[in-house]
Amino acid sequence: MFTTFTYSEPFSPTESGVPAVAQPQSQYCAADKEASLMLLTEIDHVAIAVHDLEAAISYYQNAFGAEVHHREVVDSDGVEEALVKVADSYIQLTAATRADSPIATFLDKRGEGLHHVGYRVDDCAAALAAVVAAGGRAIDAEPRPGSRGTTVAFVHPKGSFGTLIELVQE
Ligand code: CO
Repeated sequence: MFTTFTYSEPFSPTESGVPAVAQPQSQYCAADKEASLMLLTEIDHVAIAVHDLEAAISYYQNAFGAEVHHREVVDSDGVEEALVKVADSYIQLTAATRADSPIATFLDKRGEGLHHVGYRVDDCAAALAAVVAAGGRAIDAEPRPGSRGTTVAFVHPKGSFGTLIELVQE
């Protein structure tokens, strides 16, 4: 989409004779105008796959003084999560609860480490449709229940520059 720029006289005097405040004239004006189209409202969480959830929790406690804000077994995904709150976002330490869990597969193939990034959105279905329209590959055809009572949908790393994306609606 192209944006038409209108340039105003930066220092034209007003009726009172006081110079008007200079308006920024760079393309950042357009970026500001389009900010309302941004669908992502926050980094919801950064998910880290670990073999031993207790060991990972202890590490975050000892290293950073972190406290576990929420803990949950998500049976449908075969995972147990421990959420450490950081401002309005979370670090989601994630371990597999069974051998056929996607996290178990990931750990076998890649070892421990960054698994996915959760982007918070106001409307998961709308965000998923926007991602698909932009060429992203939906893993979930439609939003489904996630942990913490959220509604989520995953987007495949192929088509998203190598990052598994989770859209999270609180
Ligand atoms: Co997640």
